[in-house]
Formats: sequence, C-alpha cells, structure tokens
Amino acid sequence: MEVAVIGVGITRFGEFWEKSYRELITHAGVNAIKDAKIEGDEVQSLYVGSMTPGVFIQQEHIGALVADNVGLSGIPATRVEAACASGGLALRQAYLAIKSGTADVVVAGGVEKMTDVSTEHATVALAGAGDQEWEAFHGATFPALYALMARRHMIEYGTKEEDLAQVAVKNHSNGTLNPNAQFQKAFTLEQVMNSTPVADPLKLLDCSPITDGAAAVILASKEKAKKLCENPVWITASSQATDTLALHDRKSLSQTRASTIAAKNAYESAKLGPNKIDFAEVHDCFTIAELMAIESLGFCELGKSGKFTQDGETSLKGSKPVNTSGGLKAKGHPVGATGIAQAVEATLQLRGEAGKRQVEGAHTGLTHNVGGSGATSVIHIFQKEVD
Ligand code: COA
Repeated sequence: MEVAVIGVGITRFGEFWEKSYRELITHAGVNAIKDAKIEGDEVQSLYVGSMTPGVFIQQEHIGALVADNVGLSGIPATRVEAACASGGLALRQAYLAIKSGTADVVVAGGVEKMTDVSTEHATVALAGAGDQEWEAFHGATFPALYALMARRHMIEYGTKEEDLAQVAVKNHSNGTLNPNAQFQKAFTLEQVMNSTPVADPLKLLDCSPITDGAAAVILASKEKAKKLCENPVWITASSQATDTLALHDRKSLSQTRASTIAAKNAYESAKLGPNKIDFAEVHDCFTIAELMAIESLGFCELGKSGKFTQDGETSLKGSKPVNTSGGLKAKGHPVGATGIAQAVEATLQLRGEAGKRQVEGAHTGLTHNVGGSGATSVIHIFQKEVD
C-alpha cells in the first residue's frame, strides 16, 4: 500500500519567548490540516516526535496534549522519542500505521521548545541522547562528541577545517532563501573559520543552534490521497537502523553505520540508488555530520565528502543539492521537529513550491534524520509520482 503526503504545516524556527510549546505545534498541525483541505474528523491517528519536553518545559503526556490543542481529541495520539530523530521516527510510525491498514489518514508532527532554558541547561538535556554513564557523566557534550568524530575524519581522510566550514557557508546561504529559517544570514568561509571555538575543531558556526519550532504533515493511503488531494507526494521508502549509543563501542568514529544500513534498506525498498536522488535534507547538527551523512548515503566516496562539498556538488545549483532549506545549521534544530521539517521541505520541493530555493525538475528527494551521535538513523524517500 502506497503512502502519500497530502498536507504540510510548519512554524518559523527561532527563539520565541512569546510562543508556547502548544501554540507552536497547534500552528503547524492546523496549517497542515488546512493545506490538505480536509476536515479534522478525517484524521484517524496522530504521532508526535518530541525529544525531551519534560526537561525543557516540564511537560509530559504529549500525545493527548497535542491531539487536544490541534482539535483532534478522541483519536489515538502517541508521542515518539528517539532523541533528535524523534520527528523522523514519528513520520515512520505514521507511515507504518497506513501501511498496516489500520488507518488511512494520519498526522505526523514534531515539536520542541528549547530556548526557555539556558544554553547550559539545554546542553545537559541534549547530552541525554548520548550514553549517560560513559559520556555525559564525564562531561562529554554533543559538540564534544561530534568534535571527536570530526578529528577522526580529518586524521583518516585528510578532511580540513575549511571543508567543515564550507558546509556552514552553503547551508547559511540556502537559509537566506527560506523565510522560516532561524538564521537568514550568509557567512563567508573566513567568518566561519574565525567564529568562536566551541569544541575543537568545531566552532560556533559549525554548530546547529538551540531552537523553538514545530512541523506537521498529513499522510494518507493511496486510495484516500487520490480522492482528497490534487498534488500528493509519495513516500516510497521508510527505513530505520541503530548503532551503539556510546562512541567508544563503534568500529569506526568517522563513519555512521546506522545511516549506512538505513540508506541501503531505503534504496532497496524504493528500488533506486543514490544517483536517482535529486536533492536531500540531511542531519547537519554539526558540519561534520553533513559530511559523514553524504558518504553514508552514497552521494560520494568514503572520505571524499570534503572535496565534494568544496567542488559545489551539494550547493543549490550543484549535482546533488543538500539541505536546500538551510539544514539544521541555518534553518534551526528544534530537535523533535527536525525530522518532520525535513519532510515538509521534501514535499515543498516536489510540489514545486520551494520558492527561491526550488531545485528545478526535482522528482525524487531523501530525508535523513539522526538521533544522538548516530545511534538512530531514519531515512525516507519521497517521489513526485508512483507507477
Ligand atoms: N549558529 C549561528 N549563530 C549562532 C548559533 C549557531 N549555532 N548559536 C548562537 N548563535 C548566535 C546567536 O544568535 C547570537 O547572535 P547575536 O549575538 O547576534 O544575537 C550569538 O551567536 C550568541 O548566541 P548565544 O545564544 O549566546 O550562544 P551560546 O554560546 O549560548 O550557544 C552553542 C552556542 C553553539 C553552544 C549552542 O548553539 C549549541 O549548543 N548548539 C548545539 C546544539 C546541539 O547540540 N543540538 C543537538 C545536536 S545532536
């Protein structure tokens, strides 16, 4: 059974002291329902990704809260958690609900409100996505864990700090074309290289920010989609894989095994290879994460992602545009919302509604959402048409 995206909604991402958690997800959810041009009573089930609202805003029991606020109280509503991959996993659960035949119209949402606490507090909350006993307890923050991976990539493949910086330059440039991005400001390579050190070799402009935001998509079965929607976008693969939580247990620090496995499975189910992907939204929580992602996804050879990026292949006009939305780096990273926001961008691109950042002739897109330092990876493939 095929699954279609029939509606999308998203808030602007940023720091919103005046907006609550529930207002953010309500805005996204209601707009997705409006975009799908359906009545709320068509929706049979809801999944919402949220990483750690209990720590950020002392709110749990998110499924029922969101259903109530979006006007869907009564239907089954489930919160999904897989750290920064919570949104991608919520999308996958919604997809599976339709595939299983238990529902034919489902909402998948994602939301996080991270800026009500200090950066120190947010850093501790986010560290829970790593291994508490072996990493967080000893002071390893997320920038520190990704810095270890970056250093290893540099040692093994000769990747340079400039290669990392180029990812930030590109994604910030794309962010200037996205009215919903947290940062709509371009930076030069020099500015990135000279930004404040955070965890060597990562600097301020190598990091995704701390963000508030929400996104939602409406999924439908093929039969329903054909009845309800003139411009459905099809999800032709959904895959998920895991790796060890702690970095020290991995065979390689410079590769993301969960993403490699998930990519292989996704390509097999969609019956296509990386050469058929016209654009991708990948999990660039740190610039090194985008480099490792494009290698795992098979867009370039192992160890060659720095050159691939420097050659402009992943830029908006390149052979393989990556993070047209600005990515987590510039669009922002409200952790639970990120995986759904990626699906929103993929849908807009395939509907030809991505404005100034439109990839001409886009037919097939991929989203890649990672939890923690790579222990969860969720990949979806989206296509404009299915046979
Ligand atoms: N990229 C670009 N600009 C950023 C930024 C980022 N990641 N983070 C903050 N800024 C800007 C702010 O807008 C602000 O600009 P202004 O002075 O013009 O207003 C300035 O830098 C300082 O912001 P501030 O909020 O004081 O930064 P901070 O030092 O508290 O936090 C980081 C910066 C990098 C530590 C924080 O963004 C961070 O921890 N990011 C990683 C989040 C993370 O780990 N996510 C999970 C990934 S798995």
